Amino acid sequence: MKENLTEAIAKLKKEKNAVILAHYYQEPDIQEIADYVGDSLGLSQKAAETNADIIVFAGVHFMAETAKILNPAKRVVLPDLNAGCSLADSCPPEAFAQLIKEHPQHVVITYINCSAEIKAMSDLVCTSSNALQIVNSIPKEVPILFAPDKNLGKYIQKKTGRALLLWDGACIVHEAFSIEKLLALYSEYPGSKIIAHPESEAHILDVATYIGSTAGMIDYVRSYPSETFIVATEAGILHKMQQEVPNTTLIPAPAEEDNSCACSECAFMKLNTLQKLYNCLLYETPQIEVSESIRQRALMPIERMLELSK
Ligand code: 13P
Ligand code: SF4
Repeated sequence: MKENLTEAIAKLKKEKNAVILAHYYQEPDIQEIADYVGDSLGLSQKAAETNADIIVFAGVHFMAETAKILNPAKRVVLPDLNAGCSLADSCPPEAFAQLIKEHPQHVVITYINCSAEIKAMSDLVCTSSNALQIVNSIPKEVPILFAPDKNLGKYIQKKTGRALLLWDGACIVHEAFSIEKLLALYSEYPGSKIIAHPESEAHILDVATYIGSTAGMIDYVRSYPSETFIVATEAGILHKMQQEVPNTTLIPAPAEEDNSCACSECAFMKLNTLQKLYNCLLYETPQIEVSESIRQRALMPIERMLELSK
């Protein structure tokens, strides 16, 4: 059945000149049929350069929306339209517009995990892999408003020594890691390395030997193929990571409320299934739509980011 679906997707993809872009948090069977699997920056770069007529975005809404902003003439479909993001949801446009109004001197930098409306109010967009570089591109004396992730924001403050005005948003998955359980696990594997995504809270980042985007974490592990790693990000990353380092022990960091599988999953990411992916490619729905006025304003900060990340 799964084989039939995989074959049917491959056939349809060819017929329709479609491309499948997938995030590392997607289910393994989706990652396996994707043309490209990557982090938010890599996925935006691929979306910007594709010649396909249809982009099937196996990820969450803000990622597919970014692909649509970059490709207004192409169809961008998302297997499940409810695949949102708690971080993006934590930043409603009206409240954000008010904060910007109260701080007219601030340059507005937004993490890509936000809606098109929020991007349309931004001067620059960044991802977890280029956040430090994007913030450092702004002269030191210019104040910065950073949204929506306060944990990434605090991490940038620590690394750059700059005070940022932070939006109070967070990712429910990365805030669920338990420092007590993590340290207990580490004591069982004393020689291991803890690696973490910067959406995690400061107490988790403080004990990590490497902090970076999902792609950055995979690169890091690849350069230490015989170590043991405790991985503090969404558990979907373990699929590609383990393929890269088959002889390495990878242990998912434990979450607070998790007594069953000791791993953290993003329920939004996991809404996409192979069957839904097939359906959305076949029927070309649900499509991502962005109004032209918002798209044009949201495009500028994304293009600036892509330019600075070359
Ligand atoms: P990356 O860009 O590092 O893949 O992060 C995306 C994300 O949503 C993390 O929760
Ligand atoms: Fe959003 Fe967190 Fe899921 Fe990433 S893991 S998509 S930040 S809810």
